[in-house]
Amino acid sequence: MSNTATLEVNGQKHEFPLVTGTENEVAIDVKALRGSTGGVITIDPGYKNTGSCESGITFLDGEKGILRYRGYSIEELAEKADFLEVAYLLIFGELPTKEQHDKFHADIKSKSVVDDDIRKIVDAFPKSAHPMGVLSSLTSALTAFNPSSVNVDSEEDMYNSVVKILGKFPVLVAWTLRKKQGLPLDYGDNSLGYVENVLKMMFKQPNQDYVQNKVIVDALDKLLILHADHEQNCSTSTVRIVGSSHAGLFASLSAGISALWGPLHGGANQAVLEMLEAIREDGGDTKKYMAKAKDKSDPFRLMGFGHRVYKNFDPRAKIIKVAADEVLADLGVEDPILDIAKGLEKEALEDSYFVDRKLYPNVDFYSGIIYRAMGIPTDMFTVMFALGRLPGWIAQWREMRLRKEPIGRPRQLYIGETHRAFKPMNKR
Ligand code: ACO
Repeated sequence: MSNTATLEVNGQKHEFPLVTGTENEVAIDVKALRGSTGGVITIDPGYKNTGSCESGITFLDGEKGILRYRGYSIEELAEKADFLEVAYLLIFGELPTKEQHDKFHADIKSKSVVDDDIRKIVDAFPKSAHPMGVLSSLTSALTAFNPSSVNVDSEEDMYNSVVKILGKFPVLVAWTLRKKQGLPLDYGDNSLGYVENVLKMMFKQPNQDYVQNKVIVDALDKLLILHADHEQNCSTSTVRIVGSSHAGLFASLSAGISALWGPLHGGANQAVLEMLEAIREDGGDTKKYMAKAKDKSDPFRLMGFGHRVYKNFDPRAKIIKVAADEVLADLGVEDPILDIAKGLEKEALEDSYFVDRKLYPNVDFYSGIIYRAMGIPTDMFTVMFALGRLPGWIAQWREMRLRKEPIGRPRQLYIGETHRAFKPMNKR
């Protein structure tokens, strides 16, 4: 194969190098495009054909349903690793040794206390506030309480900022939930594992001990691992682009949380449950909603189906479906919402509209079902997603800064008015 691509603009040929990734993906390097063509740009709304960076963190092949973190398959990581191991792997590039893992966890715990003044901010939010708005604001507020910017040339500085946010973020997640439920805000228990601590911080009642359930701990561990990174998705691209202006880590993460909130991205897990509730309240007629989803004059979409990249199956959905069955069996949950979910899944997998467009259940279709069984309120689902995605965002931010990437600043094709003379108000 030739290692250049030729583009003809106004009868003139321009050559651009082809670059190949380690998984043999090929890209046309158009860095010189504007310079060599006298200002011509590419246009690609939604970036369906645009690589924004070179990255060594996560590989995914949407056609084959492959997802790997730093070369390790998601199936193996979900089965054999814990969430902290995966976080370390994503951020620092290698699986930790036992010593590295223990030190990492000890350092995270030592930084997990959040300034007590942040409680006042939590108190100021109305109970009705959406938890993602609260979480994004609290993460941004951390910047004010930890103003020193990270020196990216110092390994130690980078490491400290990483363990700081990994320690404090679960506290903010738990406070976001507890505020909504009118429960006292508290800190975790340093004798526990990372995920056990998250569960206890979220669910401990003030007047009773919190008893851990291993099936739930394992399922949450798995869910967090499956959500930990997904290369250049909307929220991760946001974190990278905000960070590219040399904004701090916490400020970049706060922007990423806002991006994740939307129902076409992380907000889909909440939207799935709300859709299932709506179908139940409307009599449980799944066929009616299948028809709505296929009707082009109806804006309704089957939430939890389809994916921008996975066009055969979402490998995370396969793993999580098994975990969902385990949790539901262990907790003995009988829930009409689940029957509706199973009905929709079966009908969609057999329907030519969905099959032809390669629309399969995605990870959010099942994660919401597990969260509901665990007793997590629907509007907290996306917060749980953020907790899982945190190591990925950190890893991507760190990579972008270490590679000294330029500020992200796309171009546009202007389609507005050409120059026109100003009209005074009485002449308009
Ligand atoms: N229900 C019904 N039709 C759908 C759905 C759906 N969920 N998703 C896509 N389609 C249809 C579109 O209408 C379009 O049909 P057409 O070709 O006849 O016009 C075709 O499938 C392709 O859809 P696009 O929107 O072009 O696909 P895109 O890759 O841009 O969008 C997305 C992917 C946003 C995930 C979309 O499938 C969707 O809206 N799904 C529901 C929301 C959801 O579950 N999001 C979670 C994503 S996973 C995550 O963020 C972790």
